[in-house]
Amino acid sequence: MKVTVCGAAGGIGQPLSLLLKQSPHITHLSLYDIVNTPGVAADLSHINTRAKVTGHIGAAQMDAALEGSDIVVIPAGVPRKPDMTRDDLFKINAGIIRDLATAAAKNCPKAFMLIISNPVNSTVPIVAEVFKKHGVYDPKRLFGVTTLDIVRASTFVSEIVGGDAATLRVPVIGGHSGVTIIPLLSQVGGTSGLSQERIEKLTNRIQFGGDEVVKAKAGAGSATLSMAYAGARFTFSILDAIASNKPVVECTYVDLNSDAQGGAATKKITGDIQFFSVPVELGPAGVQRILPIGNLSEYEAGLLKTALPELNGNIVKGTSFISQAN
Ligand code: NAD
Ligand code: LMR
Repeated sequence: MKVTVCGAAGGIGQPLSLLLKQSPHITHLSLYDIVNTPGVAADLSHINTRAKVTGHIGAAQMDAALEGSDIVVIPAGVPRKPDMTRDDLFKINAGIIRDLATAAAKNCPKAFMLIISNPVNSTVPIVAEVFKKHGVYDPKRLFGVTTLDIVRASTFVSEIVGGDAATLRVPVIGGHSGVTIIPLLSQVGGTSGLSQERIEKLTNRIQFGGDEVVKAKAGAGSATLSMAYAGARFTFSILDAIASNKPVVECTYVDLNSDAQGGAATKKITGDIQFFSVPVELGPAGVQRILPIGNLSEYEAGLLKTALPELNGNIVKGTSFISQAN
């Protein structure tokens, strides 16, 4: 497997690449950035694991970095500072993602595309539109990485209800920003005894967990280490699904058209939205099945109602950035 990390010299990119270097499934780890990749690649290349590491710097080396990739992971672009929303990043990151997606569509049209760069709600639709423009769009292979919401939810919920955070699974659906993040606490064992006030506080903490880190870093960026962990977990799940032919379930932000039956069932609850984070069974070709989101409590149904207009606006913004460009 050739895995390319775009933005590999960044706050997420470096620890993510380190974690990926440990995978026995990866034979070639290709590191692309506009700065510093020769050093990062030289450093990682001394680790005695299977993957060969190559470093590629600047636009002139982008094609070589991406050529023949099986998986492309993208944490390229600028992070938030305090008092910014993820949507404020659109101005800069939309163009970065468009250019990387264009190069990927030409050099590795069948790659699994794992999008970390914010605003994820909009950057994933941008990649979809670019791939459509090049006639190579396969919705089964495009993923917005929302795993950090799942990781946070497991941590925060286990702090309250006990149990092992590593194995406690909390479904988180919707998008990846504030109110579009919808944790389904009613589906987690041990939460039925919690007061409504506790549920609302926990939900709010999961929705705004990113802000907690942005505030604590005080201008020096947003979550990098926990995101590297989450990004590696999601990439390993994809690798397991491809290489071991073992179905793996992860919540991830996908095109609901990637599974006609599962997508239609989700749309009965969400209305006609194109991208949504749902539990997905991953297989060798990508999205194998979109799984049911299950029963929502009245409170969660209210969260969904609040989330949908904002999420839809983010999707339209991403889609029209490409479709209305000259
Ligand atoms: P960072 O600034 O530390 O690193 C970003 C890297 O991208 C830098 O090395 C930069 O040189 C590189 N870059 C910029 N333009 C590029 C281009 N055209 N091609 C290739 N590389 C380019 O930022 P970070 O903290 O690593 O965050 C990166 C992105 O990930 C941000 O948009 C952030 O909001 C997002 N993020 C998403 C999640 C999530 O849950 N999905 C979590 C945390 C951060
Ligand atoms: C996160 O959830 O930590 C990321 O989306 C980064 C951010 O801007 O909060």
